[in-house]
Amino acid sequence: MDRILIRGGNRLSGKLPISGAKNAALTLMPCGLLTDQPLTLRNLPRLADVDGFGHLLNQLGASTAIEGTRPDEFGRVMTIRAGQLTSTEAPYDIVRKMRASILVLGPILARAGEARVSLPGGCAIGNRPIDLHLKALEAIGAELEMSAGYVTARAPKTNGVARLTGGRYRFPVVSVGATENVVMAAVTAKGSSRIENAAREPEIVDLCRCLVAMGAQIEGIGTETLEIEGVDRLHGATYAVMPDRIEAGSYACAAAITGGSLELVGIDAESMGATLSALSDAGVLVELTKNAVRVTAQGPLQPLTLTTAPFPGFATDMQAQFMAMLCKADGASVLTETIFENRYMHVPELARMGADITVTGRTAVVRGVERMAGAPVMATDLRASMSLILAGLAADGETSVSRVYHLDRGYERLEEKLSAVGADIERVSDG
Ligand code: EPZ
Repeated sequence: MDRILIRGGNRLSGKLPISGAKNAALTLMPCGLLTDQPLTLRNLPRLADVDGFGHLLNQLGASTAIEGTRPDEFGRVMTIRAGQLTSTEAPYDIVRKMRASILVLGPILARAGEARVSLPGGCAIGNRPIDLHLKALEAIGAELEMSAGYVTARAPKTNGVARLTGGRYRFPVVSVGATENVVMAAVTAKGSSRIENAAREPEIVDLCRCLVAMGAQIEGIGTETLEIEGVDRLHGATYAVMPDRIEAGSYACAAAITGGSLELVGIDAESMGATLSALSDAGVLVELTKNAVRVTAQGPLQPLTLTTAPFPGFATDMQAQFMAMLCKADGASVLTETIFENRYMHVPELARMGADITVTGRTAVVRGVERMAGAPVMATDLRASMSLILAGLAADGETSVSRVYHLDRGYERLEEKLSAVGADIERVSDG
């Protein structure tokens, strides 16, 4: 098991390259199942979850060739070839390790007319059901049955040909994954589909743009109502994964909490509007340049009142990182987590470093403290791990973060990127 050691107190400064977005990559990769032509994805991040998804695609019969990129280069190129599927099943032992595997359900069903996918089960931040995925797929013609922890989905047959019909569905609550699943299933349905109260996250826009590049017909991209005209088949394409707005926001918090200045290179500021306005409200200088965002601390951090919400609101994936940053603010902040029911696992670990945080239900009150002290702490989930790294960067002394496999799921070469801008950070292996 690896640990990350940080000796805090250094102000970070310099340029930091932003990688391709994990949450875009994980919905673009299954698009390769929708066609027998090659789909080439560029700017793929080097992450455990991307590798895991590649193995799942291989299990289904798709090849995933990575074009040679030098190890020091960012942005891999992967060509996915699913000439034909050799399996229509996503097994429990894969799905339980990576929830995003559920995103093969729609594509397998659309391509093969049937799919059998294990229910993902919960994770650290909540029980994370998939009822909305299933209801949306049913609305476009899927026939579902559940047994022994698996969902089996079938497309209705007409003259012996299985094909989804298309249809209309209004989400009762916004769901990123369920929107992604139903969009990927609807693009080759027989008829048209109308998806209302669809998620509008930039990763959904990236998905729709990739599908359009493959020949799909989608109107309303970026809005909460998507109109999809089914087409008979999709063709291959080459598509570049969008930059990771959550990685960029996380490193922006690193600049703020260390009193430094970072230029985040390769990010589209549009995709992180709520994060950037929250940073400005906290007294951090935010400057937009051509394809970068420069974030510079200037004086004490101001406390904030933040409530997480679907895009374009303040992202739940930024809550833990802002909580760490606000531990050093000049006053009390109030954070309310409305998306997941258990996304405060970082609080007790931050408290071990001297943070003053009180959680009541979905609301956390963070009282700023003068100093934090380095300590051995344990990562529990991806974004919680990043909040511990951020606190360690600003704490006195040494912080040791264990279970860093959580981090490796979502942050490409984290120590390398942070060392390059002045952090005293290293990864040690406990064998
Ligand atoms: C995606 O998860 C992201 N993961 C999450 O990022 C992100 O936090 C989340 O969207 C919200 O933005 C990927 O893209 C791989 P949801 P997803 O469906 O799709 C409930 C990270 O750190 N819900 O929008 O699973 C659900 O329980 C990860 O990168 C149902 O009730 O999120 C939650 O309370 C963490 N039924 C809310 O909706 C369903 O069928 C939002 O979930 C589906 C979801």
